[in-house]
Amino acid sequence: MPSSDILIVGGGLAGLFCALKLAPRRVTVVAPAPLGAGASSAWAQGGIAAAIGEGDTPQKHMQDTLVAGAGICDRDVVLGMANEAGARIDDLLAYGVPFDKDDEGHLAQSREAAHGERRIVRVRGDMAGHAIMQALIARVRATPSIEVIEDRTVEDLITHHGRVIGVMLRDAEGRREKLAAGAIVLATGGIGHLYRVTTNPAESRGLGLAMAARAGAIIADAEFVQFHPTAIDIGRDPAPLATEALRGEGATLVNRDGVRFMQALHPDAELAPRDIVARGVFAELQAGRGAYLDARKHPGGRFTEAFPSVAQICLSAGLDPTHDLIPVCPAEHYHMGGVWTDARGRTSLGGLWAIGEVASTGVHGANRLASNSLLEAVVFAARVAEDLSARDEPQFDIAPVESFLRSRVPQSPLIAQPHIEERLRDTMTTHCGVLRDGAGLRRALGVIGALEQEARDQLIKNMCATALMVAAAALAREESRGGHFRTDFPHADPNQARRSRLTLREARRIASGL
Ligand code: SIN
Repeated sequence: MPSSDILIVGGGLAGLFCALKLAPRRVTVVAPAPLGAGASSAWAQGGIAAAIGEGDTPQKHMQDTLVAGAGICDRDVVLGMANEAGARIDDLLAYGVPFDKDDEGHLAQSREAAHGERRIVRVRGDMAGHAIMQALIARVRATPSIEVIEDRTVEDLITHHGRVIGVMLRDAEGRREKLAAGAIVLATGGIGHLYRVTTNPAESRGLGLAMAARAGAIIADAEFVQFHPTAIDIGRDPAPLATEALRGEGATLVNRDGVRFMQALHPDAELAPRDIVARGVFAELQAGRGAYLDARKHPGGRFTEAFPSVAQICLSAGLDPTHDLIPVCPAEHYHMGGVWTDARGRTSLGGLWAIGEVASTGVHGANRLASNSLLEAVVFAARVAEDLSARDEPQFDIAPVESFLRSRVPQSPLIAQPHIEERLRDTMTTHCGVLRDGAGLRRALGVIGALEQEARDQLIKNMCATALMVAAAALAREESRGGHFRTDFPHADPNQARRSRLTLREARRIASGL
């Protein structure tokens, strides 16, 4: 099928929600793995933040989001998202998501760090991501207007005079195919696997960001990467998550000597902002003192019932969380930066929209508030669906599309170069991770440039391009703010309290020292 009216690239929460909201309009969804398998949304242990409880308001939700975002969120966009939360939760209920309810049948809401109210809707404790994805996948499979192409990776966006008109796909054997589309919605997720330790699936490699950047799109806030403080350190890749809600329930962080190290670092101790806790854990590990989550008393005997996913992971590693300390480390968890979009999800390129983690809408600022990511995914997926529904049929020029479809597809086998991926992950972790400085970032940019030259396969080149965007933006921001901590500029600078915008060409200029 060489052409499609609307093509959604990515089969996570944002992509599937957008496809469902567009029904009965015909859409094609392309995903790199069977639906549900390669999507970080399915792994979310938190829930969805929604100010729908008694005494809560979208304004309060906005305020908490702005504080977490460390001064650079787009206030209007945040308020808009908070306002639409209730309607999107209703949509998810209608799609069959079994959110937890209280005895009176109202949605049960719990509290998470940095939220001033109980406003997180969940499913069976820590199963929200899995349950939401299961419900949406079933609904998508039952919707005849949605065609799903699984096991295809998009490696390139094809443009004509600045408008995106199609994509180049590859299957698992490396065979290329082209697909033209009137509108392309990127929903490819984050960048976790550019780092040595991540909580995200292997498909989160920054490919969508790279393709958009190579096509000339503006990338915003690329330097802001969120590291989760409590990935379970049992040598797995990806690293399983021990949800922050455990600390909300009273679990503490201790080092090998049993010292609660966060108490000395922040008045809120374990419930301090995520970046501060991540740096605290990182410091203990760097000092060789170890870092552990102590859940033996709280939640103690309730652990398995309240956190079934985490309990199962611990048991599979021979740990009994009611008796053993859980070893933890910081792990790349979420990218606040991404392809710049406006409030309707439009990117700076005609024909291209972006939603979910690959997008940067201005909602998260320098540090995402817990449980705002699934909310942002559904709010902006619905807005993009509305924007596309307001248009009639494809608005592209037929001639370039026909010429694209007639053109020969260059075929070459997949070229695996695992040493490049490994070196890239180590470089990003060492120099562009929890702590950064100018000298390290310059070194990283040199290494990334050399790896990009050495890369033979477009997928690896794409990983290098995204790494370059992140490192160049991190070098350009000479201050510390939210998830971006520069040891050579350890304070926030009010003069830099704004979002960043960078093209790939500008990032290359920064990398070359111009
Ligand atoms: C967590 O449950 O700790 C993660 C939730 C989130 O990242 O929003």
